[in-house]
Amino acid sequence: MKMYLKLVAVLFLLITVVTSEDISFIYNGFKSAQLYLDGIAELTSNGLLKLTNDTKQQKGHAFYQNPIVFKNNTNGTVFSFSTSFVFAIRSEYPTLSGHGIVFVVSPTIGLPNSLPSQYLGLFNETNNGNSSNHVFGVEIDTILSSEFYDINDNHVGIDINDLKSEKSAPAGYYDIADFKNLSLISGNPIQVWVEYDGIKKQIDVTLAPINFNKPEKPLLSLTKDLSPILNNSMYVGFSSSTGSVLTSHYVLGWSFKVNGKSQELVISELPNLPRLSDKQVSKVITIGLPLISISFVLLVTLAIVHFIKRKKKFSELLEDWEQDYGPHRFKYKDLYFATKGFGENELLGSGGFGRVYKGVMPISKIEVAVKRVSHESRQGMKEFVAEIVSIGRLCHRNLVPLLGYCRRRGELLLVYDYMPNGSLDKYLYNKPRVTLNWSQRFKIIKGVASGLFYLHEEWEQVVIHRDIKASNVLLDSELNGRLGDFGLARLYDHGNDPQTTHVVGTLGYLAPEHTRTGKATKSSDVFAFGAFLLEVTCGRRPIELVRESESVILVDWVFDFWKKGKIIEAKDQNLGNDYILEEVELVLELGLLCSHSEPLARPRMRQIVQYLEKEVSLPDLSLLTLSSNGLTFGHHENFQDFPMSYPSSMDTPFSHNSSVCESLLSGGR
Ligand SMILES: *[C@@H]1O[C@H](CO)[C@@H](O)[C@H](O)[C@H]1NC(C)=O
Ligand SMILES: *[C@@H]1O[C@H](CO)[C@@H](O)[C@H](O)[C@H]1NC(C)=O
Ligand SMILES: *[C@@H]1O[C@H](CO)[C@@H](O)[C@H](O)[C@H]1NC(C)=O
Ligand SMILES: *[C@@H]1O[C@H](CO)[C@@H](O)[C@H](O)[C@H]1NC(C)=O
Ligand SMILES: *[C@@H]1O[C@H](CO)[C@@H](O)[C@H](O)[C@H]1NC(C)=O
Ligand SMILES: *[C@@H]1O[C@H](CO)[C@@H](O)[C@H](O)[C@H]1NC(C)=O
Ligand SMILES: *[C@@H]1O[C@H](CO)[C@@H](O)[C@H](O)[C@H]1NC(C)=O
Repeated sequence: MKMYLKLVAVLFLLITVVTSEDISFIYNGFKSAQLYLDGIAELTSNGLLKLTNDTKQQKGHAFYQNPIVFKNNTNGTVFSFSTSFVFAIRSEYPTLSGHGIVFVVSPTIGLPNSLPSQYLGLFNETNNGNSSNHVFGVEIDTILSSEFYDINDNHVGIDINDLKSEKSAPAGYYDIADFKNLSLISGNPIQVWVEYDGIKKQIDVTLAPINFNKPEKPLLSLTKDLSPILNNSMYVGFSSSTGSVLTSHYVLGWSFKVNGKSQELVISELPNLPRLSDKQVSKVITIGLPLISISFVLLVTLAIVHFIKRKKKFSELLEDWEQDYGPHRFKYKDLYFATKGFGENELLGSGGFGRVYKGVMPISKIEVAVKRVSHESRQGMKEFVAEIVSIGRLCHRNLVPLLGYCRRRGELLLVYDYMPNGSLDKYLYNKPRVTLNWSQRFKIIKGVASGLFYLHEEWEQVVIHRDIKASNVLLDSELNGRLGDFGLARLYDHGNDPQTTHVVGTLGYLAPEHTRTGKATKSSDVFAFGAFLLEVTCGRRPIELVRESESVILVDWVFDFWKKGKIIEAKDQNLGNDYILEEVELVLELGLLCSHSEPLARPRMRQIVQYLEKEVSLPDLSLLTLSSNGLTFGHHENFQDFPMSYPSSMDTPFSHNSSVCESLLSGGR
């Protein structure tokens, strides 16, 4: 009897151990995944979870195979949980789809007797809305079903036992404070985060395009205690359904955790979606053809209207003086198609000077990044374009190649080579998804130094960059650092009013004498490079706003460590123990040296390259009578001058009346 009890106890222990360990999982692609599948759901050979496969009026389910304990046995409250997944919806028509995907927590594995179409594979007409369902879901719905009071045909909703959402919102995300629409049926991958806080009883749902970090502000928030809804042991998974339009619903990756934050998906490891086919276009034509026979005249009229609209839509500026720049001039129409009409999903980011879109050139299929810079003033445009074209001839492996430009009214478009790994700042701060180790960082630092040395001293003319910072350093496929955005700051030197010109750059990287005199020089570039060295090594911004009026200035912060003889402690915690002490110290000290408030005390790029290559050793900082005063940024003195000139994101340039700026290309040496 005793023995038997013991056995039961051991078994019980074993079960609880298994279930409580089984509370976190991650699938960066589903290649080796063991999921429960039903309906028309399948796993593709390259690891995509394909919930529906281009069939009408069908449903598909995929569930994690083991039950998950959602409740505390003692007091019956639901634990916190969080999940994130990446989905994509591909439809036969670009503007129509059906029906959607639901992340679902259900007491049963699969959802038997549920219906496709507007029922999303969740419920049927008899059990919809019944509290005995015990189902929680987050629906990504692409059809307006008025019977469930849907708000539109592109929304996200929180469903509790009912397809009539408890709360819903049009699909989109907050880029800081700006709301950006997202098209669920664009075919592009979108990431979703669903989080439940068991203490606050709050459900948060957040969306973002795949190349974005998780936005701070959720799209949807609902305060609701899930304890009466969820059972002790539940299954998690996805449900999807199609209606009368052939649609495929894909999940690319999925991460889940009870009592904690689910692991971040590794975007680069997710499987590729099938290429968007030309079928989508040809279907439009097959629909269009009967229309022609019905009303040829109407179509001709439409075509003329369309032609006029299109002409206006693709209009661009072209003046005589531009004839010489032929190969560097791009057609607006080509850029428009390359970037899918500058669609939200192609947006790579928006910095101080404008928004950057990814594109694929129609004929050559070259991947490009297109920067749209709004620019009202025509003044100086001729010179500026001359400089741009001149810059287009720059060639160095640590510079982002500038392929050309296009002009429209009030707007300039610059076309660069596409850099697949994005900008460096994304790997440094703002809770980076991926951080870089020391040898990667050191390689980037050396690369940027060599690129800047080329601009300053090796090319036929002197090029002052004017806006060196981590967000202007892009990483190519081999993680080489490449300087981008050169010369753009120059554009803003030509103000609308000839009496005033602007100091342009980014707060935190601007040398004190630059803000004072308005003159950008090689040594003001070196100053910014110093700030860059510190931010890469410390993983912090040059100026971090702690509270509204309080900021930590990175160079002061590093200087304090140096004074205490512990400069190494300023390094980024994310570096761990895998770094070379001498190199980290070298870079930090060099960063301080470049930040010297006296321009003549700063090293030149040629020396910087030698220090970094360890050909020449760095002078002893203590001999240079460095004082905190001699080091700090000029902002202490200038803060009052521009109280509101920068938003919380430090990327925005600010302007300040000042004397005339010198030319970007100062010619000769
Ligand atoms: C979808 O899947 C079903 C069942 O696996 C299969 O019979 C059908 O041919 C597939 N349809 C398409 C369009 O791939
Ligand atoms: C469950 O709740 C009880 C009482 O509030 C608490 O003591 C216990 O730690 C909880 N168990 C877990 C696994 O959180
Ligand atoms: C149940 O236990 C958790 C701790 O595990 C606690 O946070 C929660 O407030 C408790 N709920 C009730 C109703 O006692
Ligand atoms: C879920 O819990 C409810 C009430 O506690 C119970 O009636 C129902 O049978 C449970 N469902 C399953 C599938 O265990
Ligand atoms: C609806 O689903 C419930 C739950 O699975 C099932 O009991 C019921 O029979 C279904 N009703 C119809 C009409 O299919
Ligand atoms: C909800 O479902 C239960 C069990 O299937 C059934 O007995 C009950 O009548 C349903 N309630 C409503 C309001 O339909
Ligand atoms: C977002 O979409 C809504 C409705 O579809 C529209 O009214 C709004 O203007 C759009 N906003 C932007 C910024 O495109």
